[in-house]
Amino acid sequence: MTVLAACTPDAPAQVAPSSSSPALSPTSPSPAAAAASESPTAAVEPAAQAPVAPSPAAALPRQFSLTEPASPWLVVNKYRPLVPADYVPADLVQPNIPVTVSGEAALLNSTTAAAAEAMFVAAARDGVSITLASGYRSYGTQVTTYNGYVAARGQADADTASARPGYSEHQTGWSFDIGDGGGACGFQPCFADQPAAAWVKANGHRFGFIVRYPWMFHPITGYYYEPWHLRYIGVEAATDMANRGISTLEEYFGVEAAPGYP
Ligand code: DAL
Ligand code: ZN
Repeated sequence: MTVLAACTPDAPAQVAPSSSSPALSPTSPSPAAAAASESPTAAVEPAAQAPVAPSPAAALPRQFSLTEPASPWLVVNKYRPLVPADYVPADLVQPNIPVTVSGEAALLNSTTAAAAEAMFVAAARDGVSITLASGYRSYGTQVTTYNGYVAARGQADADTASARPGYSEHQTGWSFDIGDGGGACGFQPCFADQPAAAWVKANGHRFGFIVRYPWMFHPITGYYYEPWHLRYIGVEAATDMANRGISTLEEYFGVEAAPGYP
């Protein structure tokens, strides 16, 4: 179950913006077919409308690489594997925050760890309890995680919830999953309604984080809503995305949507 707890499709209601950008209009990964084979706890996301594309004129200057795994602006998705596939961050550390896991899963890269520490302190000041539920995953761990999903759900459904080895943000140290400490709705659709999820969605950008797989954007990200999966991109970019109402890294950086593996 630990293996399967890393990433599960999700559900609650949220309206996606409409779009007009041909370059970013995604091809649907057949969400209806994917949803039909999901576990009973997973709700069905309706087909998303293509979201609004960012305005290039208002975008931040390109400060960091979009392809280098050690870059905070790395975009890794089903079209953009990690290079090298077995990348290991050089600066993994255990953040000084509440964790509900041990071993490598309690690690983050040093920049993300520092940002997480600041964010968890701020959340606690607001009376919100957040825990680190799954951090770094090596290539080998992702093999186990992904294969667990495939065994439980079949490959098509597994691909909507778990990245294939060499394609996961968790392998970079830039991402982690959160819980609320009490186990409420852990990795379940209802987690979106928990205080921890609501707080990070509203405040994460102040510490450099985004909710990487938002509701209704699976035709762009390739994954169903994961209100627990946070990604560090830096305060400036995360705040810029929030201010401009841009939901995905693919749109923000103007790279191709990645609904499925090529
Ligand atoms: N659940 C996300 C997509 C991962 O496996 O990295
Ligand atoms: Zn995750």
